[in-house]
Amino acid sequence: DAGQKHFGPITCKSCGMIYTANSPEDAVQHTQYHRRFLEGIKYVGWKKEHVLAEYWDGKIIVILPDDPKYAIKKAEDVREIVDNELGFKQVALSCPSKSKIYMFVSTEKKVVGCLIAEQIKQAFKVLSEPVLDESINHEIQEHHRAWCCSTKPESAICGVSRVWVFSLYRRKGIASRMLDTVRNTFIYGSFLNKDEIAFSDPTPDGKLFATTYCGTPNFLVYNFIRHQRKW
Ligand SMILES: CC(C)(COP(=O)(O)OP(=O)(O)OC[C@H]1O[C@@H](n2cnc3c(N)ncnc32)[C@H](O)[C@@H]1OP(=O)(O)O)[C@@H](O)C(=O)NCCC(=O)NCCS
Ligand SMILES: [Zn+2]
Repeated sequence: DAGQKHFGPITCKSCGMIYTANSPEDAVQHTQYHRRFLEGIKYVGWKKEHVLAEYWDGKIIVILPDDPKYAIKKAEDVREIVDNELGFKQVALSCPSKSKIYMFVSTEKKVVGCLIAEQIKQAFKVLSEPVLDESINHEIQEHHRAWCCSTKPESAICGVSRVWVFSLYRRKGIASRMLDTVRNTFIYGSFLNKDEIAFSDPTPDGKLFATTYCGTPNFLVYNFIRHQRKW
């Protein structure tokens, strides 16, 4: 020990958890999380995997409802991590037997991205930030999912039920590449437009991502429960 004790928060370089170095409870929590997380994203692979795209830093595979048990099991393990991280009760998939689970597998054989896509029929445009409404607490606006959407349904084809990228791999275009792949493969033989996809109840991160990806703050959403308001 060189006498340089670390007291502030530190980020684990393998699991990404932020914890306090000198707190024993944090250390225990980290050890548990670390093991479970790394086990969950470990990707062994299988013979008949469906590889949809390959890049210098990884590949995108899809897991379909009829895939073998071990593939489904991996998808479920990853989904558990994702739902846990999204930190709230997720809306159930409208039809699990029709949903497709896309995963970005890094060259180190870790699942570092996951996107669950499902078929939908309609969605609603997010309305641009309204002129500040005093009835909405500012704290809530900043830290929770505050967005409003139109009440007029638009037709849509593909719903992004969940999209997640491992914290240490964000801002490398992984979510964008997964979504490009979804648009290219969700419906056989056609390439979906950006206005044919919608996001389920987006988080603040999701909103920033979708705004850039779709090239508009008025991207489509579905599955909202609490935020639909008439403006
Ligand atoms: C949202 C999420 C999936 C984005 O994944 P990602 O791989 O980092 O996204 P990309 O690298 O493809 O981002 C493309 C562009 O979107 C925008 N963007 C994405 N995340 C952003 C953020 N947190 N803040 C600001 N802009 C962001 C940027 O313009 C980015 O391009 P740039 O990095 O060249 O500036 C990721 O942040 C995540 O998993 N968050 C936690 C889970 C979550 O909230 N999911 C959304 C559910 S709706
Ligand atoms: Zn760790």
